[in-house]
Amino acid sequence: MSVSAEAPTARPKRFLSGVQPSGKLHLGNYFGAIRQHVELQDEGESYYFIANYHALTTIHDAALLLQNTRDVAATYLALGLDPKKATFFRQSDVPEVTELAWLLSTVTGMGLLERAVSYKDKIARGLQASVGLFTYPVLMAADILAYSSDVVPVGQDQVQHVEMTQDMAEYFNNTFSCQVFRRPEFRLNKTAKVPGTDGQKMSKSYGNTIGIFSAGSELKKSVMGIVTDSTPLEEPKDPSRCTVYALYGLFAAPEEMEAMGANYRKGGYGYGSAKKELLAKVDAYFAPYREKRAQLLAHPDEIEDVLADGARRARAEARKTLDAARHACGLA
Ligand code: ADP
Ligand code: TRP
Repeated sequence: MSVSAEAPTARPKRFLSGVQPSGKLHLGNYFGAIRQHVELQDEGESYYFIANYHALTTIHDAALLLQNTRDVAATYLALGLDPKKATFFRQSDVPEVTELAWLLSTVTGMGLLERAVSYKDKIARGLQASVGLFTYPVLMAADILAYSSDVVPVGQDQVQHVEMTQDMAEYFNNTFSCQVFRRPEFRLNKTAKVPGTDGQKMSKSYGNTIGIFSAGSELKKSVMGIVTDSTPLEEPKDPSRCTVYALYGLFAAPEEMEAMGANYRKGGYGYGSAKKELLAKVDAYFAPYREKRAQLLAHPDEIEDVLADGARRARAEARKTLDAARHACGLA
């Protein structure tokens, strides 16, 4: 009889990621994260959630948090997240993760959290150091471990948090001589850095974003406002140093990139013309998604149904992990 190479308990790879509802999502979020999340739903079991507990470390306005949460849900659904394929939910609908975070915090040294670069950055930017902001990585570890995730697709800034999760899982398993937690691995998002209108990394915190669902005069204003150098129109320009050209590359086919690049190099082609070409691309690319999103937002009950169903599935999974963890440490 042949022996299968697969362990009997093998299951499809499980992907998990969270996105904070801390503001309007932008091109950096789409090309850096969302597009990949949507693609992965066909490659294994996907768990995606709206990290509203985490957003409470920076947003203390109930109406705004609710609105942002619904906005993220509509954005993901409009951009192709299929709730039949992926489990899509609100983090706070699975309160088990907060208990799990407590259990993990009891085996996690202060030193590990004190080394968190993201925490140090936020403090340096003037954010109040609440206990929640400090223990943020423990809650994130609970998110990841609760669903026994194999792969966590994230941007560079979150890699350290996944590595801390690996440490916390190991501390717990070793401390209580158990195998409750599965070791997760990070996977870097494919588009590492989408530049913003000022040439820095596009980010909500820098006010340099182009919104995914921006349209009309608002979209025009952000695209035409992209910062370029002052090379006169008639002179040749270097496309590799231009933010407009870099953003155009997210939408254009290779031959279109080649054509725009040739225009830059030969001179007599201004940044204004390049911006108009970029504007047309962004507008056309997201037009069908904008329509889908408007339809979804007109039926908030349907969005709620999707999130409630996702929460039911996610919660059942988190419950199993939490019960095993409680048992391992002597609570059950
Ligand atoms: P922001 O910087 O706007 O607050 P988040 O930190 O909430 O964005 O990021 C959510 C996801 O989008 C993360 O996976 C992050 O890596 C990705 N992301 C954000 N901005 C960019 C960007 N400019 N380029 C590539 N990916 C990005
Ligand atoms: N901290 C992540 C961010 O700001 C969001 C997040 C919360 C997350 N929990 C997670 C991402 C678990 C991946 C896995 O982008």
